Amino acid sequence: MGFPLKIWHPFTNSALDPSPIFVERAEGVWLHTKDGRKIIDAVSSWWVNLHGHANPRIAAAIAEQARKMEHVILAGFTHEPAEKLAEGLRKWLPPELSQLFFSDDGSTAVEVALKLSVQYFSNKGRPEKKEIIALEHGYHGDTAGAMSVSDDSPFTDPFRSMRYAVHRVPSPYLYRRPEGTTREDYLEHCIQQLASMLEEKSNSIACMIVEPLLQAAGGMIVYPAEYLRRARELCTRHEVLLIADEVLTGFGRTGKMFSCDLAGIVPDLMCLSKGITGGFLPMGVTICTDRVESAFRSENRMHTFYHGHSYTGNALACAAANASLQIFEDEPVFDRIAAIAKITGERLEQFRDFAVVGETRQIGTIGAIELRAEDAGYLSAMRPKLYKFFLDRGVLLRPLGNVVYVLPPYVISPDELNRVYDVIEDAVQTLF
Ligand SMILES: Cc1ncc(COP(=O)(O)O)c(C=O)c1O
Repeated sequence: MGFPLKIWHPFTNSALDPSPIFVERAEGVWLHTKDGRKIIDAVSSWWVNLHGHANPRIAAAIAEQARKMEHVILAGFTHEPAEKLAEGLRKWLPPELSQLFFSDDGSTAVEVALKLSVQYFSNKGRPEKKEIIALEHGYHGDTAGAMSVSDDSPFTDPFRSMRYAVHRVPSPYLYRRPEGTTREDYLEHCIQQLASMLEEKSNSIACMIVEPLLQAAGGMIVYPAEYLRRARELCTRHEVLLIADEVLTGFGRTGKMFSCDLAGIVPDLMCLSKGITGGFLPMGVTICTDRVESAFRSENRMHTFYHGHSYTGNALACAAANASLQIFEDEPVFDRIAAIAKITGERLEQFRDFAVVGETRQIGTIGAIELRAEDAGYLSAMRPKLYKFFLDRGVLLRPLGNVVYVLPPYVISPDELNRVYDVIEDAVQTLF
């Protein structure tokens, strides 16, 4: 017995942060703790849950699949749950996106997209087109490549030496524009910066990666569709592949199935994860155009994409994803999304007059309140105070520094959602 094996929790400093809360079961939006508390999961457990915890339809689909076949190697083999998922996603995607590559989570879906883009040009005899453009304030995951394309932050600081260089362009974070500029001018400035970068360097650039319309971990920064549309045009003009990282925004969060639908653009590659299985099991997918895949379909063996994870195309994760898509077909999921969006809009309106509130932002089901802070950023001293305040009142919210946001499962009721915003209002009124 002697030495216990203790769990090292993610994004947690055991010297500074409170002990983890023991959750015994979860249902709908509620987490039931061992010490008898009920907590509303207002962040969908790191943005993965769509249809509520322990959703019986998804649970049953996984159990049924587990009795038939749990997992089989995807190199040289395929199976019904994977094929069904490709068919199911087909209905929601633009026809240009026709090739699906499985991975394990959001970070690996991003790694795949980046590697595919670089090898695409290498296979086409243009190996010099290998560099990457990414946005300031972007976040794409914690593995080395995903961390490289993410902007500098406390998450990446110790790893400067292992991140490869990327071309960083300004984010259309219009609230934080330089003093004296209008929102329109700053948006145009950001677009022009991208245009000049491409004009000057496109011969060495393979791809540009963006979180479409919402830079999430960077502070729930909602930006205009105009930026994305112009980025799409510029990438096309300069033969640069556009990667839409929809790891968070996918599956209805922004009001449409995908953020790219909302902006009316089609990327060359799209990364999906998080909500894909309804929040039950890890899975990542990278979807690309036939044009991209065609560069790998070759008599030359060296043009093969030599990349694959052990659990690629896991049958249980596919079964969960299929059940989640079936819920989109059978249940009024988009009515739920619209109802959340409406309440979110109404409640955010009420925050505008508080002196401590700098800006409120919304996209679909996601509401964010940026508080004014001297130490704005992820390590703002506001964060631990807010986190505790919310938890003490039975609401799980994980502010991104001085940005409080709500990102609920779609089954949240109006009363539950209003309760979440009441608690935030209480915090804004009493804490600062
Ligand atoms: C836009 C985006 N991309 C990628 C990731 C990484 O996903 P994962 O944590 O599943 O590796 C995240 C995670 O928050 C994300 O928000």
